[in-house]
Amino acid sequence: MAERHKKVRGMHDILPEEISKWQFVENIITETVKHYGYKEIRTPLVEFRSLFERSIGAETDIISKEIYAFQDRKGRDIALRPEGTASVVRAFIDSGISSSRKISRLFYYGPMFRYDRPQKGRYRQFYQFGVELIGGSHPFFDGEVVVMLNAITERLNLKKSSILVNTLGCSKCKERYSALIKDYFSTKDTFLCNDCGRRMQTSTLRILDCKNPACKKIISEAPVINKILCGECQDHFKKFEEYLQINNVPYKVDPHLVRGLDYYTKTVFELYLQGDENAIAAGGRYDNLIHQLGGPNIPAIGFAVGMERLISLSKYEGLTEKIFYLSCMGKSAELKGITLINELRREGIPIETDYEENTLRSHLKTANRLKARWCIIIGEDEIKKNEFIVKDMFSGEQMNISFDNYINRIKELLNAEKP
Ligand code: HAM
Repeated sequence: MAERHKKVRGMHDILPEEISKWQFVENIITETVKHYGYKEIRTPLVEFRSLFERSIGAETDIISKEIYAFQDRKGRDIALRPEGTASVVRAFIDSGISSSRKISRLFYYGPMFRYDRPQKGRYRQFYQFGVELIGGSHPFFDGEVVVMLNAITERLNLKKSSILVNTLGCSKCKERYSALIKDYFSTKDTFLCNDCGRRMQTSTLRILDCKNPACKKIISEAPVINKILCGECQDHFKKFEEYLQINNVPYKVDPHLVRGLDYYTKTVFELYLQGDENAIAAGGRYDNLIHQLGGPNIPAIGFAVGMERLISLSKYEGLTEKIFYLSCMGKSAELKGITLINELRREGIPIETDYEENTLRSHLKTANRLKARWCIIIGEDEIKKNEFIVKDMFSGEQMNISFDNYINRIKELLNAEKP
């Protein structure tokens, strides 16, 4: 027997029976962000590696351990995108969108790649739905973005455990805070894990994000930023909180919240849902990134949702698809059935059947497996009466439809049904 091919570790298939749930969630998020004025942007899966190094940071885990990088045939250093923000900013600068409007609200959706350690909710290829609001520095933009994330969870009826928020301050505050944190951890460095030992030299702030139990205890007593924030950063965070409070967004300030990407300044946030200890979505402000990547000096804020994590917690009854299933029992019913199925298909009506089944029970089982919303039933009795039965697989109700004018009746059923 020929050798079977395995999936590459950390990759996963999304099978036909899961697709409806994915599409349901994708549609709700897309619809929500469009209500807030976001327009879609699609960027390539591959970029020059240097783009990610300069934005996410060469010392971050994403770049130093997880990037999928290779050389193309001309020896250029290329990488599969590990996230979307850097590519969106690159496209934003490249295309000159920056000069055409003051505020750009952009959304994107697609696979990202990180050579992470695969485990529940952690893949090497995963989908992100991301938004970037470019051009606005007012703290109410930060509030609006978090309100929109909250709206997504509400529309999906998801149980939040928390939206954690914090500020990292402007570059000057961030620098001062890093120095303070470095002083604090340098007195405890013998108790820190090896990774944090390395972070002491490269990115001290990221020690605050360590999940090692021994480090967590030390982190809990680390100094917090709010004492050393400049007046403008304090005011920004206060107004951001006001926006959330006015809009009844349940949030908690986590004074040690930092992010695993270097570009953030000021507001950062993470969304946690009941049933998953990983962040479902995360983001923040990145006021210096566009300038750092060769664009104009304009601020921005955004977030990305991890779709696998979100979908695993979303409830989608997914009872039915808008399709018909045909079940014929008996020779004359079968002949009538093949005319009907082909006429309906010609009219653009989705309908399936299995010519090898011959009992109602087995047909209904197949219809259920396909999640067909309606099952058309034709038996010898129906042929005698020149009609057939349509069973609504959702409600269980049945109706009789005459063979004389059935196409319009079937179209009415299909069109009355919301997706
Ligand atoms: P991030 O925190 O690296 O931020 O990723 C955002 C979300 O992607 C995470 O909260 C998580 O749900 C999901 N995610 C990350 N890694 C994995 C993985 N290995 N497997 C499954 N899901 C994963 C960013 O990527 C930023 N670009 C977000 C942003 C947009 N900030 C501003 N604008």
